Amino acid sequence: MEKQKFKMTSKAKIIGTGSYLPKKVLTNQDLEKMVDTSDEWIVSRTGIRERRIAAPDEYTSDLAYLASLKALEDAKIKGEDIDLIIVATLTPDYIFPSTACLLQHKLNAKNAGAFDIQAACSGYIYGLALAKDLVECKSYKNILLVAAEKLSSIVNYKDRSTCVLFGDGASACVISLNGKGFDINAVVLGSDGEQAPLLMQIAGGSRNPASLETVEKNLHYIHMEGNDVFKHAVRRMEAASKDVLDKLNMVETDIAWLIPHQANDRIISAIAKRFSHLPSERVYRAVVEKYGNTSASSIGIAFDELVKAEKIKKNENILFTAFGAGLTWGAAIITKNYE
Ligand code: ACO
Repeated sequence: MEKQKFKMTSKAKIIGTGSYLPKKVLTNQDLEKMVDTSDEWIVSRTGIRERRIAAPDEYTSDLAYLASLKALEDAKIKGEDIDLIIVATLTPDYIFPSTACLLQHKLNAKNAGAFDIQAACSGYIYGLALAKDLVECKSYKNILLVAAEKLSSIVNYKDRSTCVLFGDGASACVISLNGKGFDINAVVLGSDGEQAPLLMQIAGGSRNPASLETVEKNLHYIHMEGNDVFKHAVRRMEAASKDVLDKLNMVETDIAWLIPHQANDRIISAIAKRFSHLPSERVYRAVVEKYGNTSASSIGIAFDELVKAEKIKKNENILFTAFGAGLTWGAAIITKNYE
């Protein structure tokens, strides 16, 4: 019955979504008491009003787990039905083993392979590209793609230029070949490692292993050249959006919903200019206001909220576009395939 109702196609689709945000809210007013900043500065420069902070004993794999449970329930499948878990994160529980393996255990996903990918804030789009192809070439049936971040673990709450920007959160989705959901039509990816120094965690890897000196110099925190990152983010997300439209012979007006990476409201507005046919409520920006920049998780959280609000109509196209450390960037177009 299911197969007759939803025409079989060879496209991978997102058949379930979920997200999880920790309970603790850190408002701009709270930050005013911690660093020399103001609600007015933060809102006017970023659009962020508050963000969520994971509990001290709540880790990236826990956020991933809670988002995954919702995605599995939404897709009406169990942990054992998953044959591959991909976790996109730049704040893994450990450098190794992967957070995906910790998640595999929590979910009792005993039939799944599991690994992490690292594409910073573009992680969800990179994961979509990978999962789409692995499902379409029939290597895997049900892939759980999770983006989860405990950014508060690498934010310096004495540095006003970064601590106001980031928050914790997770999103998850199940990608399969058949079923009711959102067809993944195309994904494009890009990178520019020459610009790596603009946004990085300098210590903790093989180049600068953890030492007393790296801790004293604050090298385990996020380091960011905000102005340069801003310019690259706008340019790269615009270009990626155009590339993915071109790949599908589409134009801007074919897009019904725009979900850019939720890093900064001004960056979202700059991308939205290209899609001037869209009324403001079709450019998703609520996540950055409520949760700040949740890195890889942000697009998945926004998408989950939009799906659950039941506003998307059948055959409407949604454009995702993301940008992050690396530099990395990407874009994807998906289409709702059910009423
Ligand atoms: N409160 C008050 N003043 C501040 C704060 C703050 N929280 N932070 C910086 N300032 C000050 C600066 O010290 C500077 O003061 P000065 O002029 O006396 O030197 C002044 O505000 C202006 O600083 P700028 O850095 O020029 O401010 P800008 O308008 O560029 O905004 C911001 C900074 C919000 C970080 C912006 O550059 C930005 O959004 N960049 C992109 C960040 C981003 O999206 N990163 C993530 C993408 S990738 C990923 O998601 C991991």
